[in-house]
Amino acid sequence: MKFFVDTADTNEIQDLAEAGLLDGVTTNPSLIMKAGRPFKEVIAEICKLVPGPVSAEVTALDAETMIAEGRHLAEIAENVAVKVPLTWDGLKACRTLSNEGHMVNVTLCFNATQALMAGRAGATFVSPFIGRIDDLGNDGMELISEIRQIYDNYDYIETQILAASIRTPNHVKMSALAGADVATVPPAVLRSLVKHPLTDKGIETFVADWAKTGQTIL
Ligand code: E4P
Repeated sequence: MKFFVDTADTNEIQDLAEAGLLDGVTTNPSLIMKAGRPFKEVIAEICKLVPGPVSAEVTALDAETMIAEGRHLAEIAENVAVKVPLTWDGLKACRTLSNEGHMVNVTLCFNATQALMAGRAGATFVSPFIGRIDDLGNDGMELISEIRQIYDNYDYIETQILAASIRTPNHVKMSALAGADVATVPPAVLRSLVKHPLTDKGIETFVADWAKTGQTIL
């Protein structure tokens, strides 16, 4: 499974990218608002930090303006993935932008038929929002499994399932088990994926015992 980070904070992105564990980045208008910086400037900076797909979201609601915005965003860098909402107009824009050779991330997916339509529209990524489904008392992970099955039934290999709205390490594990191609993860959750108290305890013991040997490796 590939890992994207879900943030527009360039300091965080730089730090995570340096570890070599980042395959891409997703942003949305709320994350851009949090970053408090000009949208296109931030996207350009992120595209330089991470060579993989960087999602930049259109804000128009009609297909024609979405297409114009999408083309404009795609000019920022080759690795921009234009993000469009999962609406009829969004899918029309997806089809056009995808036919023009742009990567498209169809976002705000909350059921399997929406994902089926995104695949039909030539999406590069479809983003089911797990956490927001869980918030309503439903099971976001079930949606990932359904989409996986549907895409496999029809060989929708062109569209990658991008598990989004991830809130916990367990969401990441369950997405991987359900066959998501990518998980976009907030920085704090991404860092917590390597944490285990027994790892910390084990290191503590090894460091203490090694000190008792009086030896050095270098
Ligand atoms: C994905 O592309 C979205 O930016 C994101 O995952 C939304 O997550 P949230 O539900 O935590 O806002």
